[in-house]
This record gives sequence, structure tokens and C-alpha cells, in this order.
Amino acid sequence: MHPYTPKEAPMKPMIIDVIHGPNLNMLGRREPEIYGSTTLADIDRDLITFGATLGADIESFQSNVEGEIVNRLQEAYGRVRGVIINPAAYTHTSVAIRDALAMLPCPIIEIHLSNIHKREPFRHHSYVSGVADGVIAGFGARGYRMAVEAIMDMLKNCPKKA
Ligand code: DQA
Repeated sequence: MHPYTPKEAPMKPMIIDVIHGPNLNMLGRREPEIYGSTTLADIDRDLITFGATLGADIESFQSNVEGEIVNRLQEAYGRVRGVIINPAAYTHTSVAIRDALAMLPCPIIEIHLSNIHKREPFRHHSYVSGVADGVIAGFGARGYRMAVEAIMDMLKNCPKKA
């Protein structure tokens, strides 16, 4: 620790919470022509390794239940430095998830494996985008690394938003 680091202001751990919404536990088997063949476990494993190279502790959570995602977001408050969320189908329906995200003081990235704007019209609207700092869509599993990088950059450039 630097000799002048004040004791009363310890650095918060660099936790980034990655939240996966409904049906994403089926990745690899679920409509692979749209979502690819990478499984959720593959994505999480890769992100933990990749995050470590950037100094981020990646934690991840998947649920098919809207209220459990809301609970997880409430638990993130004050605990994590950034949130990456693929709300999956709840993107297009959930005011509750949007409201939970709106409470968080840290950077938020919304991510989709597919380009939702190229798909059915009901996927074009996101309740979450209006409270996210950035949106990544259409890059498949690669997009998750992009999201971690983006959050680390945001924290570097604007450390107060943490
Ligand atoms: C998705 C897109 C959503 O429209 C869909 O309901 C999903 C996955 C994506 O990652 O491309 O479940 O969020």
C-alpha cells in the first residue's frame, strides 16, 4: 500500500457482476444459429480469466426468475464496481429490472448476444437501455469481453462513478 493511502478510505474490491437472464443457462443448445455454440459456463470461465488480466474480479449470476434478478441487483448496490447484464427476454418487458438498475451508482452495460435491432420488432425496444451507460449487441460471446473492457475504461476515466 502507498504510504499516504489513508486508512479510512480502503480501495473497494474491483468486483464486476455479470448477470444473465432467462434461458441463457441453455446457451450452446438454445437456437445455436442465433446465439452460437458457446455455453454460459464457457462465457463465465473466459470472463474470469480475462477480467483477472485487467484487474477485475468477475462474479456471475443467472436466473430465469425476474424477482431473483431484482434481488441480485439490490445486493450489488455499494458492493460492486460495475454491472454487465443480459436481461434476455426481460429486456423487452421488465420495468422492475430497469428500476433496480436505475438505483445503482456504478457503470452498467447492457449486452445481447444477437443484434436485437435486426430481429423481430418486439425485440427492438429495451426497458434497460435508458438506464445503461452502454449497450453491446450482435457480437455473440465476444461482446462480454468488450463489456468488461468498457467498464474498466469507464472506471479509469471516471473513478467517482463506482
Ligand atoms: C438476447 C435477446 C433477447 O431478445 C432474447 O429474449 C434473449 C437473448 C440476446 O442475448 O441476444 O433471450 O438478450
